[in-house]
Formats: sequence, structure tokens, C-alpha cells
Amino acid sequence: MAIVERVFSGVQPTGNLHLGNYLGAIVNFVKLQETHNCLYCVVDMHALTQPVEVWGGPTELARNTREVTAAFIASGIDPKKHIVFNQSQVHEHAELAWIFNCVARVGWLNRMTQFKEKAGKDREAASVGLYDYPVLMAADILLYRATDVPVGDDQKQHLELSRDIAQKFNNDFGDSIRSHGFGEVFFPQPEPLITGPATRVMSLRDGTKKMSKSDASDNSRINLTDDADTIAQKIRKAKTDPEPLPSEEKGLEARPEADNLVGIYAALSGRSKSDVLGEFGGGQFSSFKNALVELCVAKLSPIASEMKRLVADPSHVDSILIDGADRARAIAAETMKATKDIVGFVRKG
Ligand code: TRP
Repeated sequence: MAIVERVFSGVQPTGNLHLGNYLGAIVNFVKLQETHNCLYCVVDMHALTQPVEVWGGPTELARNTREVTAAFIASGIDPKKHIVFNQSQVHEHAELAWIFNCVARVGWLNRMTQFKEKAGKDREAASVGLYDYPVLMAADILLYRATDVPVGDDQKQHLELSRDIAQKFNNDFGDSIRSHGFGEVFFPQPEPLITGPATRVMSLRDGTKKMSKSDASDNSRINLTDDADTIAQKIRKAKTDPEPLPSEEKGLEARPEADNLVGIYAALSGRSKSDVLGEFGGGQFSSFKNALVELCVAKLSPIASEMKRLVADPSHVDSILIDGADRARAIAAETMKATKDIVGFVRKG
């Protein structure tokens, strides 16, 4: 089987998408469509790993799954040329995860920093799924033998684990892989793809904290569904410092709020920070904020209104997911068949 260059990435349907998700992930997803075959997955099975208060229960999960799908499409992901689907519709994810559970080592999972963070102090109370999360993530990627995985910094360790799993599988089953005619390597090593400005969008209330859906203050973030007035209000209230904007990028050091707002402007306009400072440097925040409001509204409100339109038509969104899942399953089933043969599972046909 030939190894195809493929992009895979996943987004959890666990709550409102915000500007950080958009600039940090979705913008890249859109761009990669030009150069790769892409699969974009709403990872609803991963959502279940956290306590129900986090993912909101069944009604919220379904609503958020459709909302993430709508955000993908409203942002410019083409579900006909590429594949957009939700994980739970392709049962091969769970199936391959089981085999990988038997390849991955407890010691490897014990080193995962995200588990430690998410489990917090009471590790005994964390779900087994939360512990096993990175193994399911490896299955997501390797099921399609994806080679490029656009992820943020926080997911790099999980991606390394995916590489370790791929390599151990290839070693452990090397003889079988060769005797079944799959060559030397069955699963390729997926690489993290960190392209573009890799914008880290920070909270509008505290430039040292990441913009996050779990921040208690809604004013700390711009949600993709916010209307123009809300966006304007949030930016006008955004924390700044009393100095005027610097004229050069190094003047942003130790000014996290200024750095963040300039970074958002640069990312949304596709310009560099120094270019933006060339225009606004020396001026007051108030006039820069006006320009930022205008830019945010111009870029985000078409997305918000398209999302609104899509979410109002859930059966249309569902049909996109069903079609995506059908096409994903066709690839996944091939990998799973071969994997079963390699492992020695007897199967029909
Ligand atoms: N863990 C990723 C996150 O929270 C989501 C995810 C699940 C993912 N499966 C994936 C990302 C596979 C890339 C590839 O951001």
C-alpha cells in the first residue's frame, strides 16, 4: 500500500470556539487545503474523556459537534474536496485504539503532561479515557496514515507518542508486515506541522494567559459567534497599558497586552507585526483599537453569520458529516483490514 501525503487534525466539541482556535488552528487548516489531502475531524470521542460538566452532556455534545463543523465550513474548509467528519461515526478509531493500547506502554502514558494537568490533584478520579486519550489520538492519525498533523505546542508530546506507537508497531510486527507484502514500514511517522504565524492568541483581560473557553470572563475572548457589537465592546474593554504603541517590534517586549492586540491585528490582516507597528506605532491605543474592531468585524462577522445559517439547519450539517464519515471510513477500513492481517486476527474476506 502506497503511503499518501495526508493531513489529519482534530478539534474537540467541548464548547465555544474563539479567536484563539480560529487563528491558532482553523486558519491553518484552510490553507493546507491547497497543498494536501486533508481530513478534519470533530473528535467527539475525545470530548467524553473529561467530566460531564466540561463537555456539557448529550444535548450540548451534539450541538457543539454541529457548531465545530459549521465553523470549519464557514471558515472556508471545503467538505467536498476534503473530508470533514465526526470521529464516532467511524468505528475504526476505537478499534485501532484498542490495538494501540496493547502497543503503547504504561510508562509512556505516565509521562504525558496534559494528563497530569487535566487530571489535577485527584488523579484517581480521572477517567480511564483521559489517561488513554493520546492513544486514541494516535489511532485518529495513523488510521489514515497521515504524515502531517497541524497542532499547537500543547499537542507536540502527544504527537511524539503517536510516532513511538507507529514505530513500535512496525518493529513488533515487522516480520508479519513484510510477509504480508507491506514492505518494511506499515505506519508512517506523523510529523507536527507548525506553519504560518502559529499565532498564540492571549486573553483580552490578561496578556500572559492563553485565550480560553474556560476563562470565567466572556470578555477575555472573542467567540466565533459574537456579533459585531459584542466584538467592538470586548476590544474596547481589552486591557492595555498607558504607553503609546511602539514603532518597532522589540518595543512590545514586556508589554503582553499590546503584543497580543498587535499580534491579532497582524494575523487577521496577513501582515507582520513590524509592518502593523509601522502604521500604528507612536499612536494611542484608542485609535489602534478602532482599526482592530473594524478588522475583526470585517473578518469574523461573515464567519459568524454563515455559522448561524448552518447551525439553523442541523440536517444539512449532519449530511455533511455523514458524507465525510463515509469517505473517511473507506480509507479507515483499508488500514484496519491490513492491520488485522498483520496482527493475526482472523477475519471474513
Ligand atoms: N488533542 C487535540 C487537541 O485537543 C485534538 C485531537 C484529537 C487531535 N485527535 C487528534 C489533533 C489528531 C490532531 C490529530 O487539540
